Amino acid sequence: MIDYEKILKEKYVKSGNPNWEERYIHSLAVCKMALLLNEKLCLGLDKNKVYLAGILHDYAKFDTYDYYQKIVAKYNLSSDLLNADKKLFHALFGPYIIYEELGISDKEILSAIRYHTTGIDNMTTLEELIFLSDYVEENRIGEEFAQVREIAFTDIKKAVASELSNLVSHLKNINKEIYIDTLKAYDFYKKYLEN
Ligand SMILES: [Fe+2]
Ligand SMILES: [Fe+2]
Repeated sequence: MIDYEKILKEKYVKSGNPNWEERYIHSLAVCKMALLLNEKLCLGLDKNKVYLAGILHDYAKFDTYDYYQKIVAKYNLSSDLLNADKKLFHALFGPYIIYEELGISDKEILSAIRYHTTGIDNMTTLEELIFLSDYVEENRIGEEFAQVREIAFTDIKKAVASELSNLVSHLKNINKEIYIDTLKAYDFYKKYLEN
């Protein structure tokens, strides 16, 4: 069996980024939360897919701009993507980098990784689960996280809506442009806030 935790750790260490350990702990925690929610909410998702999407969702976090540029060229992606907020790069290019380096081609896993930061309208359950687990994993400390975490264990769609609502407010507060996918997501999910 392939040890993805080891692979992730080695990639992070190799990046030389001083924050690698925190990100590694976060990745394990997202994976743990996703597996727990899958079980508690009886989502019925394939455990192996949940595990892989969870452990690898931030796989491309410490890759370089140069590398992202190469991925854009190699896969004929829109160069416009390189104008996005750099915090989104690991999600936008992660699926290609994971396919490239690890040979994982499962579309459900890769799209959950693609949308884990921005969200999108009408997500699959795996996409919702990874988007949500990224936000409510146990190391996220604060009222806004705690509140969404509580909802997460009863109603996944309402929790996703609540996370998006927090995310949109946060981005507005810090005067950051809201990525189109997040706007689409919020527009779609806000109806679940009322339930
Ligand atoms: Fe991320
Ligand atoms: Fe993450």
